[in-house]
Amino acid sequence: MSGAVITGWGSAVPDKIVTNDDLSARLDTSDAWIAERTGIRERRIGGTTSGLAVAAGRRALEAAGRGAHEIDLLVLATTTPDAIVPGTSATVQHELGVAGGAFDLNAACSGFVYALVAAHGLVMAGADRILVIGSETLSKITDWDDRTLAVLVGDGAGAVVLERCEGPGQLLGWDLGADGSLRHLLKCDLGGYLYMNGKEIFRHAVRAVVESSTAALARAGLTAADVDLFVPHQANARIITAASQRLGIPDDRCVVTIDRYGNTSSASIPLALCDALDAGRLARGATVLLSGFGGGMTWASAVLRWGG
Ligand code: ACO
Repeated sequence: MSGAVITGWGSAVPDKIVTNDDLSARLDTSDAWIAERTGIRERRIGGTTSGLAVAAGRRALEAAGRGAHEIDLLVLATTTPDAIVPGTSATVQHELGVAGGAFDLNAACSGFVYALVAAHGLVMAGADRILVIGSETLSKITDWDDRTLAVLVGDGAGAVVLERCEGPGQLLGWDLGADGSLRHLLKCDLGGYLYMNGKEIFRHAVRAVVESSTAALARAGLTAADVDLFVPHQANARIITAASQRLGIPDDRCVVTIDRYGNTSSASIPLALCDALDAGRLARGATVLLSGFGGGMTWASAVLRWGG
């Protein structure tokens, strides 16, 4: 029996820090409003989706002790590709020197978990090593005069190397879902800016994270009481608090990075995962719950046994 396990990880964010006070200087908003309503204090802005993905991917490969020539496949989750055609994964594949295939995946903020679950399936289908990246430059599709969105978004990338291993591997359970009847709640038309109905998304988001996490845990034969570390999508600190309270996961088992990065869509979960790993919050054998939601609407959860 063989499975898949994460063997390396890395993240990348632009150098430029934009604080709430920076935004308040040009918009009718304030540090107090943003911090209280969202939990965000600052965000990183700049770069390109491919450039951030290459930097994060390179770090993940180094951490795994692998060369790009050893990678069978690159899966890039992004909502903000550099261009419509070619896929941004083609640029990343070329710049890193990945030997295998490459494709983009767009499931909005759920994209990284969708990509990770799909990558596990591709290992079961015969791939040996897959580089999974979530990378975004939401700043490019944001109207910086629209205070409802400008205060929320940030840019960044996170990556993991997934490798075939002996034994059952790390993926204990998963849940992927979508409800396209809600696609009007969060959208960006071609050439346009992001639009969202924040209140409605908030309401659906808490329910989606709780139900999807519960479904993935049930598939793993576990409950929220078994979760050692919860890595939720970072869209709003109040959504994270409401979802973890309903699941019964205490604050000290929950990863929150939104204060430093804002909402980085499909980069938010791998960025938060890397942050927790770098802080030594994850030991081999720990049960990790990843859960995200986003435009579509989509939602996605995965339960991992860290280290396989
Ligand atoms: N600064 C100051 N005041 C503001 C701002 C701002 N940036 N934005 C809105 N307001 C005002 C509103 O106009 C409103 O004023 P009013 O009462 O006079 O009408 C008041 O603040 C309250 O606005 P609400 O929309 O009710 O504020 P709420 O508490 O719902 O918070 C927020 C808004 C933060 C957007 C919240 O609804 C939210 O986080 N929703 C979910 C967002 C999300 O998860 N998006 C997912 C993906 S986003 C993406 O991918 C980019």
